[in-house]
Order: sequence, then structure tokens, then C-alpha cells
Amino acid sequence: MYTLFYGTFIHTPSINEIEIRTNTLVGVDPTGRIDFIRYNYSKSDRDPVKFFFTNHTPSEPIKNFNFQDHSNNPLQFFFPGFVDTHIHASQYPNVGIGIGVPLLDWLKEYTFPTENAFKQENMEMARDVYTKVINRTLQNGTTCASYFTTIDLPTTELFSDLLIKYGQRGFVGKVCMDHNEPYPEYAESFTDCIDVQQKIINYIDQKYPKERREKLITPIITPRFAPVCSEPLLETLGMVSKSQNLPIQTHIAENLKEVELMKELFPKFENYASVYDHFSLLTNRTILAHAVHLTDKECEIISERKCSISHCPTSNTFLSSGEAPVKKYLKHNINVSLGTDLSGGFESSILSIMKHSILVSHHLAITKRHSDPKKEHKDDKLSINEVMYMATLGGAKAVGLSDMVGSFEVGKKWDAQLIDLGGKDSSMDIFEWQVPSGKVVSKEYTDKVEQLLGKWVFNGDDRNCRKVWVNGKVVIDKEVKREDEWVLV
Ligand code: GUN
Ligand code: FE
Repeated sequence: MYTLFYGTFIHTPSINEIEIRTNTLVGVDPTGRIDFIRYNYSKSDRDPVKFFFTNHTPSEPIKNFNFQDHSNNPLQFFFPGFVDTHIHASQYPNVGIGIGVPLLDWLKEYTFPTENAFKQENMEMARDVYTKVINRTLQNGTTCASYFTTIDLPTTELFSDLLIKYGQRGFVGKVCMDHNEPYPEYAESFTDCIDVQQKIINYIDQKYPKERREKLITPIITPRFAPVCSEPLLETLGMVSKSQNLPIQTHIAENLKEVELMKELFPKFENYASVYDHFSLLTNRTILAHAVHLTDKECEIISERKCSISHCPTSNTFLSSGEAPVKKYLKHNINVSLGTDLSGGFESSILSIMKHSILVSHHLAITKRHSDPKKEHKDDKLSINEVMYMATLGGAKAVGLSDMVGSFEVGKKWDAQLIDLGGKDSSMDIFEWQVPSGKVVSKEYTDKVEQLLGKWVFNGDDRNCRKVWVNGKVVIDKEVKREDEWVLV
């Protein structure tokens, strides 16, 4: 099916730029690739379909054609799918549990026992949890996510199958951890870890060879965090990533006690980042989650290695870990993306993470103003534009797919969501004078759309996300019940 979409398209081609394109035509070919974009096309001039067929020669002849016109509704727009760069699929049942318990205690008390239940004998429980977390994030417009599972092989294989089944683009990270003193039941030997890691890579490559090429699912090397990994394990994982060209994800400097523990366990290293760097784990395809307590020196290493940070504000607040100075990282030229960090984080929605990112940045500014009242400390505050970028193209960059997804460009994949701020299911009220009207291609019109974006970020939720596409395929359509849709009973 070739689909021609028509309406308002909003995206952030860079962190300082927001593009609001009204009356725009976007053609998506049957492989899910955007192969035609025409801005400012008024349908009163000529029928858009006729215009398309006379002005564009697609690479393949079109057999089935579909036209989706959303141009009549000023409260609807297309937005790139969200990229969640840090999420623990196996922890989904624990969402909302353990408020304020510091990280190391929280891991021991809640997280390790939950993850340890993911085993062959609990396959149905794993299926239930994994199905729900994939569906919940898709419903919220997350078209791509970088997941942590557990140390377990069969349930991680099942998780890969479920990503394919429900059509979410995903990175599958079997957690690697070869010692765990506080909770020894949940650890693997070095040999088992490397063996299971290779089995997952082979499973994904052999069962889904096309998807790997198309990058629908990709294995990701996942040392949990330095304190639960031996030096030989970190070294081997660095080598596996390099030899098999695989991305890496881990945690860094989330909590001060964790940083102290890291220093005890790795006394010969200067800092947390240098542990990872020593074992070749800091690459331009490495995602570092949290990064609340980094030193300037660590920022320099991370910037030099072109790693990305996954900012997880809900988790950092929920576990009282701290406030990550995102603007400082941006000044260091580090790519910052967003993560829900379920279940340290309590929100499945990246839209909500955008909101919390802004709020936490305001708190940083407020705290600084209290100690230095002469200054406004505006520099610490994140803008709507910045968090939109982090949620889409910044996320795509973090997972190494910025040439494929994250914004609307010819040649990119159609990973997108249709947002509707109105309608009977909307989470918000929009008043008549707030509705964009008049000449669609005008500053007045786009200014109103921009105001609506504020309402979306601070008042919107999954009810406003009406339809979701991954790789050109519809994966969520809230107007139509999917046959195999997960239903709560
Ligand atoms: N550090 C190591 N493991 C974890 C985890 O599962 N969640 C969070 N938030 N931090 C971690
Ligand atoms: Fe995490």
C-alpha cells in the first residue's frame, strides 16, 4: 500500500528548531519509506491526489493507493514517533512501587526479585508482562525503545518475538551481571553471561534476518552497571560490541552511594566514566542512563566519545537520586535523549517524560536562584523545543538511527503518530479562541499551533495519540479495535 498523508506535520530538525508545516503532503511507499514531501499545498488549487500523480514518479509503480486527509482538523497533527532510550521491560509490574527508596536498597528489595522470576517455568507471566509493556508504550506513541530485559535467555527470546508481533522498533538488551553480593540469587557466571548474550544475538539474527537489516529489532550489549560486572566481563562485552558492531547501554552515576560503591570496587580508576572507557564501552552508539552526578571531566570523556545520555527525570525524582543538569550536558555538546526507566520511573509515556524534564530543569534553576538570587538562572531551564527534540531525533541519534527515524525527511522511515488535541477522548479542553484559524500558511496560525504544543506537553496524554505507525505499518489505531488487541479482563 502506498499512502499519501495530508495535514499538519510538526517535528524538530535540530534542538533549536521547531518546524510546523501546515497543508503538507507526505507520501509513504509500501516499504514504509517516505519518498515524497510537498509543503504548503493548498487543496483548493487542485485535488492533492491528482497533484501527486502528475508531480511525482515513485520508484515502484503504485498498485494500491490510500489518501489520508487530516487537513480539515486544526487540532490534529502528525508528529514523529517517540524514542524511549531507557526502559526495563521486566520491571513493568513494579511501576509506582517503592517511592523514595534509595537506588541500591530499591534494587535489592524490589527489582532483583522481580527480574529473577523471569524464567522458563514462568513463561506465561513473562508473556503477560512483556505484552503489556510493549502495548502500553505503543499506545503512548513510542515507536522505538531501547529495552533492558533480564539475565534470562528464553524469556528474552520471547520478548524479541513480541516486539516483532506488535511491530515496535526495539533494542533488546539482555542484562549482563556476573556478581551481585546484595542479592546473590540473581547473578550469572561470566561464562553463562557471554554464552546467553551470544545466543540472543544469534537468535535475533537468524530468526529475523530481514528485521535486523531493516533494523526493526537489534540486540544491544547491556552491562547492567559497573558495580555488578567484573573487569573481565566489562572487557569481553566491549569486545563483543566492537567485533559484532552492536550498540551498548548501561547506567552511570545515578546515585551518590552507587558512585561510592563503584569507587570501592574499581579503586584504580579515576572516575565512573573512565571504568567504561577503559573497557571500550564508550562509543558513539552507547546510551548512558541517568547521569545525575557526573564530573566535568566525565562530561568531557563522554562528549569526546560521542556517547548519548538518557535523561530519566521521573526515575531520578521517584528514587530521590537527584536532578540531572541536562543543560550542562548540552553545553558539553553531548546528545541527550529521554528514558522512562520503568520502573524506577513511573510513567510509560515519553510525552510525560518531556513534561517532567522541563519541571526538573525549573527546580534546578529555582535551587540555584535561592543560593544566588541576583540571577534568573534561565540557562538551566529546558524549552518545549528542546524536550521535543530529545524525545524524537535526539532519541533516534542515541540509538544510532538518526538517518532512519526521528523526523520527517525523504528517505526516512514512517515512524509516526497522529495527535488529536480535540475529539471526545481528549484529555484537555481547548477554547474556541485557541483553535488555529484563518490562513493556514501564516505566522498567526503557526503561533497558535505553537501554543497548543504547550497544552499538549503539559496537559496531554495517551488519549491524544490516535494512531501510531512503525516502519509504515499501522500498529495502533484507536478508532478501530485490533483483533488481537490486549484487553484488560
Ligand atoms: N542501576 C542498576 N540497575 C538499575 C535499574 O534496574 N534501575 C535503575 N534505575 N538503576 C539501575
Ligand atoms: Fe534503569
